[in-house]
Amino acid sequence: MNPRKILVTSALPYANGDIHLGHMLEAVQTDIWVRLQKMRGHDCVYVCADDAHGTAIMLSAESQGITPQQLIDKVNAAHQADYAGFSVGFDNFHSTHSPENQARSESIYQALDANGHIARRSITQLFDPEKQLFLADRYVKGSCPKCKAPEQYGDNCEACGSTYSPSELIDPTSTISGATPIEKDSEHFFFDLPQFKDMLRQWTRSGTLQDAVANKLAEWLDDELQQWDISRDAPYFGFEIPGAPGKFFYVWLDAPIGYMASFENLCTRSDYNFDDYWSKDSNAELYHFIGKDIVNFHTLFWPAMLTSANYRTPSAVYVHGFLTVDGTKMSKSRGTFINARTYLEHLDPEYLRYYLAAKLSSGVDDLDLNLEDFAARVNSDLVGKVVNIASRCAGFISKGYAGKLADTLDDVALIENLQAASEEIATHFEKREYSKAIRLIMTLADAANQYINDRQPWVVAKAEPGSENLQRICSTGINAFRILLCYLKPVLPVMAANAERFLAVAPLSWADSQTALLGHTIGKFEPLMTRVEAKKIEAMIDATKAAYAAAAPQESVTAEAITAEEDTAEDSPFAPEIQFDDFAKIDLRIARIALAEHVEGADKLLKLTLDIGHDASGNEVTRSVFSGIKSAYSPEQLTGKLTVVVANLAPRKMKFGMSEGMVLAAGPGKDELWLLEPHDGAQPGMRVT
Ligand code: 2FM
Ligand code: ZN
Repeated sequence: MNPRKILVTSALPYANGDIHLGHMLEAVQTDIWVRLQKMRGHDCVYVCADDAHGTAIMLSAESQGITPQQLIDKVNAAHQADYAGFSVGFDNFHSTHSPENQARSESIYQALDANGHIARRSITQLFDPEKQLFLADRYVKGSCPKCKAPEQYGDNCEACGSTYSPSELIDPTSTISGATPIEKDSEHFFFDLPQFKDMLRQWTRSGTLQDAVANKLAEWLDDELQQWDISRDAPYFGFEIPGAPGKFFYVWLDAPIGYMASFENLCTRSDYNFDDYWSKDSNAELYHFIGKDIVNFHTLFWPAMLTSANYRTPSAVYVHGFLTVDGTKMSKSRGTFINARTYLEHLDPEYLRYYLAAKLSSGVDDLDLNLEDFAARVNSDLVGKVVNIASRCAGFISKGYAGKLADTLDDVALIENLQAASEEIATHFEKREYSKAIRLIMTLADAANQYINDRQPWVVAKAEPGSENLQRICSTGINAFRILLCYLKPVLPVMAANAERFLAVAPLSWADSQTALLGHTIGKFEPLMTRVEAKKIEAMIDATKAAYAAAAPQESVTAEAITAEEDTAEDSPFAPEIQFDDFAKIDLRIARIALAEHVEGADKLLKLTLDIGHDASGNEVTRSVFSGIKSAYSPEQLTGKLTVVVANLAPRKMKFGMSEGMVLAAGPGKDELWLLEPHDGAQPGMRVT
């Protein structure tokens, strides 16, 4: 087998916040994959860095009374310690605020410009006259221009869901200074993404992406692509754009280039060669592991930029879902927004690595850390099954045979059975179907435990102490344990290292699963993992709550603005997974559109009067619904048609009246919308299940 040359990255964490378990989901997913490759003899390099630029970091440093450089140095050290605490084995962890990244960002920008892919034009934005800076959408609050809900951010309304530009807000204020923003013009630089439409259509369909991601991108690519604003005006913490004093690269321009820069930095102190991995004719593989909220940056802007600047594009971008805790979004007040450091102060990191692996798949679904299930799973699988195999056999070998394993096995078939699963398990890991790999490994652990139950070495020890039979039985158990350890090593590197010491063997590779340990002297058994204790989980949650409570009183308007991640698309294009109970709460009914009418003064809405069947007394039940389908349908087309309505949606007060439900339509929006219509036979009022 020829070793593959592989370069892998995880998304770069912002340098103004702690690493939390959401970051750890991604880092663990990536690290398991990298460790698997390394164990299988491939040349796999894993790099990451801090994402050190942007307004948020500038303001955060200011509020702490330190320079951005001091802030990012401090945070970089903390981040590295947190990742190391979870055994995330980066080959290099760098910073986007580095000479390598500056040089590479400048040269890529110059290539884009020389190739005619940079446009310049003046835009109008809100400007904080007190702080003298332009305000990104997340730094402006005011009342929603549509529904008048107060305290809404500058990009969309959490009350009615409408999107708008910050200058449309009623009574806007800067969340940084509290001042009333003014409108101001300035020249911005844009990356001309639309020129890459054909290239992206082809690239996104070339097997580089999961189907769900490729489908979502196909929708975006069918729409009109927009030029991407890549410049920000001073003051801004970042790299100044060559030839444009006072203009800086937007943080997201140089962030992915940070992948290259971190690797380049590694090249300066190793034999790796930059061009081998990044040139157009590179035969190395390149993989980015990312969360579903930053898909557009990695699958549209990034491959387009690389193409323009004459670099290779990624072999694949692997997208994962978000981490939820006990079924909901991580929450500071509930104590479930758990920092990596807080976790490490209370629990063994290998518990989490195992639990995440046991639940991870290759999809974009969210992964729930259910704390009760977490304890039960780790205790039952790792302590109860895997470690148990070794602990049930090791004592007899140490005591009765001075640690020496037998020269032959009692049950060759059992060991061969475990060995035979090696490629299937590796394939599951390779495809990021970790939960399938773990399930199979646990089935094998069950078989090994069953074998020990059947042979009952403790009974044999009494009946024939010191016998060859007992030695061969326990040696079979130890060999089964060693093979399982090979398979679990990408997930549990610390337990594997401790077990290698106990077994007195060199670091295990994947191929070692195919051999047996015979006539070999092992060391003294040491407990490899202790049970998860519920009270430690509680202590971790309490500590998280306490940290939040301690920080909350000082949180002023400014602090809130600083923590708002202006630079991250918080929303994901993928809806989160819901439980059946959530689905069951939605009362979907067949409705007949009794009347469809124009609404005076509304650009997008039609008013629908829906007939949704009869109540218990036989009276007709109707609902008035305002629906944003005017650009797709005329009222005449709709009257008399059947469709589907969410009948138990709380009534919402809209500008033109009360809306008492919502009709279901599909499509990317604008004038491309299709109302759902049932097949013939459906009647108004029928429940949709
Ligand atoms: O969303 C985030 O946390 C960004 N800091 C990720 C950057 S990934 C890469 F492109 F740099
Ligand atoms: Zn609103």
